[in-house]
Parts: sequence; C-alpha cells; structure tokens
Amino acid sequence: MQKRISPASAIRGSITLPGDKSISHRYAMIASIAEGVSHITNYSTGADCHSTLGCMRALGVEIEGSGTEWTIHGRGLDGLRAPAADLDAGNSGSTIRMLSGILAAQPFTSRIFGDESLSRRPMQRIMTPLAQMGARVEARAGKFPPLAIHGGALKPIQYELPVPSAQVKTCVLFAGLYADGQTSVIEPVKSRDHSEIALREFGADLTTESGRITIAGRPRLTGRELQVPSDLSSAAFFIVAALMVPGSQLSICGVGLNPTRSALLDFLAEMGARIRIPNLETVNGELIGEIVIEHSDLQGGLVEGALTAGLIDEIPVLAVLGAATENGLEIKDAGELRIKETDRISTVVDNLKRAGVRAVETANGMVIPGKQKFHAAQFDSFGDHRIAMAFAVAALSADGESIIEGAEAASVSFPEFWDKLREVAA
Ligand code: S3P
Repeated sequence: MQKRISPASAIRGSITLPGDKSISHRYAMIASIAEGVSHITNYSTGADCHSTLGCMRALGVEIEGSGTEWTIHGRGLDGLRAPAADLDAGNSGSTIRMLSGILAAQPFTSRIFGDESLSRRPMQRIMTPLAQMGARVEARAGKFPPLAIHGGALKPIQYELPVPSAQVKTCVLFAGLYADGQTSVIEPVKSRDHSEIALREFGADLTTESGRITIAGRPRLTGRELQVPSDLSSAAFFIVAALMVPGSQLSICGVGLNPTRSALLDFLAEMGARIRIPNLETVNGELIGEIVIEHSDLQGGLVEGALTAGLIDEIPVLAVLGAATENGLEIKDAGELRIKETDRISTVVDNLKRAGVRAVETANGMVIPGKQKFHAAQFDSFGDHRIAMAFAVAALSADGESIIEGAEAASVSFPEFWDKLREVAA
C-alpha cells in the first residue's frame, strides 16, 4: 500500500492515541496466567499485540472482546494447555521473547514462529538464560525462530543481562514465576520496567534494588481491572511532527510517561523543545499525562550510551528531526538498531538520502548534519512500522508531495496512524 503525504502548514489539535504496545503485551500474558478475570481497556490495536492475544488463545485462554477492550479469563499459573498448532508471533519480537519465559515452564513442548523479519532476529539472548534455568530450547541454525521450547520444571537463577533488553529481562522474570525460589535479573543499564510494575500489580512478590530485580517463584497472581496508557513511542511521531512544522500546537492526552520510557522528552527539552505536561496521574502503577507540544527551533545533540538504550524505538523519527536542527544529531552505541524489525541504521539513512538529506552510516549509529531541508521523495518502509511512520513525518516538512511505499507496515503498532495524521495535519 502506498500513502501520499502533502507538506503540512501546521500540526494542530488535540488527539488521543492507542494503547502502549509494551504494556498491552505484558497485561495479556500475565492476565492469562493469573487466577480470575482481568478487564483491559485501551489495549493496543497494533497487530503485534493481537499476535500475543492469538498465542494466549492457542494456549487455551478464553479471551473475549473487540477493539481496545478485552476480558481475559486467567487460567492460573498451571492452567495453560498444549497448543494444537504452532504459535504465531507474527512480526512481534516482544511476543516470542517474553512468552518463551512462560512456555519454558510448561509441561509440554511448544513451537513458536514469526514472519520473515522476525525469523531473522536473534533468540540466543533468551535461549541462554532459559537453558540455565533448565529448559531446552531449539532454534533454526541455533539462534533464529522458529523455536521449539521443551518446557519443564525450572531452577531459579541470577542472570546479568549482557545487552540492555526489557524483553530478555521479562522472559527471565516470567520464567522465574515458575521456578522454585528467588530468580534475579541484574541490569547494568536500566530498561523499561513495565513488567516489574505489572507483575506487582497482579500480586507477584518482586523487589528492585540497585539494578537487581528479584522475583519469588509460585506467587498467587489475581485478575485485575487494567487501563493501558497511550503509547509514548507512537506519540513520538506526532511530537516530532509538531516540533518540526512552524505554527504547530498539539496536545496528546493520556500518554504513558513512565520514566524508563520518557528519555525522549528530556532529550528534546534539552535541545530546546517547548513541551509541557500540564497534568500527571498514576494508573495501575504507571504514570500517565497530557503532553502539549509547540513548534520549536532545536539545537541538535548527541545520543549515546544509556540514553541510546532509553530511546531506542524513537531513533528513526529523531533522525528525521536531527536534519532540521541547528547543529545536527549524532547517534552512537546503537548496534541494537541493526537487529530490530529492519536494520534501522541502514533503512533510516537510505530514506534520508532519498529526500536529499545528507547522513552518514557508522558501524553502530549515524551522523546527520543539521540545517537541512527535505525534498519530496518516494520513501520505503522496508516493511518496518517505525520507518513508515518516521518518513511520513519527514514528508510533512518536504517541498512537495511524497509517497510512502509499504505504508501498511504502520499497522504493526499503530493502525490508526494515517487517520490521526490527517486529523492534525493542516
Ligand atoms: C520492548 C523492548 C525493546 C523495544 C521493543 C519493545 C519491550 O526491545 O525495542 O520495541 O516491550 O520490552 P529490546 O528488549 O530488544 O531492547
């Protein structure tokens, strides 16, 4: 599918956005192994979170609902059933990596696969700790999906994450729910903590102390009423669009502002972005607020180290913004970008060049000089949702109508993206 995007004269209005992808996955998985019923509102409409619902159904969990509201009839820690067919994780790294922690503890074998992009993404990062806990996991060529997970009784472990990854952390914590004793994950760089918050919310015994998260095995998890905050990583496309297009003023309501996700806002504020958060509240342990953004002239800057890990999903759209800043943007320590849905260092730089924007690809990052203008172009999502949306934002500032090839990819996290864009782009 192609989308044609005209330059915008301003981004204005007040919008709500769909539920957070990371939190939706976690609520669906934990609710499935809790006892009793959970009601989830503002569940992500993205295809990835539907892959998770599909897998949980295939494991015998009754799930009713539609759109953004779902009722999950939890089967308790030991209630999942052997699936009749292979589990389909679609495009979703979160589904395959996090669910594997639960599957590793089941008294049956599961096979889980994904689409072409997911089938190229590395799984050793979860296979290593799961093997230490006693599970046997087989993978194509020893490291890629499909996975065959031969579950069974698990031992508690202490595991230091070799790469900052909330998916791997969650996989180990989920497996730890089934281990007999205390399982700890040590994270040298803090990653998003939605699993810790959600597990506590459902009644798990979990403590966090200076980078060490410890979970007690065999807790009693009970069903809950849950409201998913809107996804800050989806909001990022609108935030950047409003910052870039002169005359913009945009308000986004009910956005998840968990400090482990909001590095983007701090970084933008440091560069001179006019962003306000007029109100804040806590729902199910997660911070939620309204964000008001006005067009701003930005300095540019350097993203490296822990900051890179903290805003890894926002780098494609930040790279677009970088070209419009005064001093440009340099991104370092972003090797993880090469193993996302696409190699995002290469797909971002490729698309920037299509618009006549200078950008240099480095081994683990990119350099984008500032004060550049976007020319109308034919962009390609390469099948990656965040690339489709990042370059739709670039197109808003171009000097003519642009085309986004493979625009349907946005549906992986944000099916409403194109309608919302039309709503605010004048
Ligand atoms: C996610 C963690 C991050 C992120 C992904 C979602 C999560 O991946 O890029 O979009 O929900 O835990 P890694 O765990 O690979 O860093």
